[in-house]
Amino acid sequence: MPATFHDLRNKHVLITGGAGGIGAAVSAAFAAQGSRVSILDHDAAAGAKLLGRLNAGDAEVSFHAIDLTDFDSLVPLLHSIEKENGPVDVLINNAAKDPRYDITQMSWAEWEELFKLNVGHYFITCRELIPGMKKNGGGSIIMVTSCNFWIGSGELTCYTATKAAIVGMVRSLAREVGKDMIRVNAIAPGWVMTERQLRERITPEQMKKLQQEDQILPVRLLPEDMAGTFLFLASDQSRVITRQTLAVDAGYAMT
Ligand SMILES: NC(=O)c1ccc[n+]([C@@H]2O[C@H](COP(=O)([O-])OP(=O)(O)OC[C@H]3O[C@@H](n4cnc5c(N)ncnc54)[C@H](O)[C@@H]3O)[C@@H](O)[C@H]2O)c1
Repeated sequence: MPATFHDLRNKHVLITGGAGGIGAAVSAAFAAQGSRVSILDHDAAAGAKLLGRLNAGDAEVSFHAIDLTDFDSLVPLLHSIEKENGPVDVLINNAAKDPRYDITQMSWAEWEELFKLNVGHYFITCRELIPGMKKNGGGSIIMVTSCNFWIGSGELTCYTATKAAIVGMVRSLAREVGKDMIRVNAIAPGWVMTERQLRERITPEQMKKLQQEDQILPVRLLPEDMAGTFLFLASDQSRVITRQTLAVDAGYAMT
C-alpha cells in the first residue's frame, strides 16, 4: 500500500520524459496522490496510452508532445503550461539517454547532442520555471542523475559526464535558490529494469551478476521502486532536505 502525502494533492508537478520507463511510474505515483501532473515527452503514442490509464479516476494529467532538445519550442510550451495550470510546485527533470560510445570514435556533434538532452533541458526548465516558483513562495526541484556517476562504466564516458554535471548543478543551484524556499535534490537510480533496459541492454548473465554480486540487496529494481523517493522529496516531509543526491539502487553504487 503506497504512502499518502496529503500536501501533494493539487500540487502542480511537471515531469520531463514522463511517458516511459521510470518517468511513467513517477507520473502515475503523483497522479495517485491527486497532484496535477504535466508530462513532457516526445513519445506521443506512449503519452496517449499513459493518459488513458491515469485519467481514468479523478486525476488531472496532461501530456505535451515535445522534443526536449528543441529549446525554441520548449520555452513557449513551459509558459503556456504555467498559464493554463499555474506555477509549477514540483519540477522533475528526468529525460535522458544513455548511448554507448568508444570515446575515440565519438564526434563532437554526438557529444553535444547528448549534453543538450541530458543537461541542456534541465537548465532551460529551471531557468524558465524558477521565477514562477519564487513568486509562488517556493517549490521542489528533483533532478535525475545516475549511480553511474560513482560506478563510471566504460563506453559511458559522455553519459557519466552529463550525470556528474547534474550532481554539480544540484549542489550549486540549491544554494542559489534556497533563500526562496526552493529545494533542489537529485535521485541516482541503480540499474532499473525498464522496458527499454530489458529489451536493449541487460542479458540474463548480467541480471544474475547484478543481483547476486554487484548490488548489496539481491532484488530486481523496478521503475515503481523509484517512485516513493520522488514523492518524499517533493513533499513537505522533506522540507529541510536540499542539495542532496540520493542513490536508490539496492546498494549498487557503493560496491
Ligand atoms: N533505467 C536505468 O537503469 C537508469 C539508471 C540510472 C539512471 N537512469 C536515469 O533515469 C532517467 C530515466 O531513464 P529511463 O531508464 O526511465 O529511460 P527510458 O528511455 O525508459 O525513458 C525515457 C523517457 O524520456 C523520453 N525522451 C527521451 N528523449 C527525449 C527527448 N529528446 N524529448 C522528449 N522526451 C524524450 C522517452 O520518450 C521516454 O519516455 C534518465 O535520466 C536516466 O539517465 C536510469
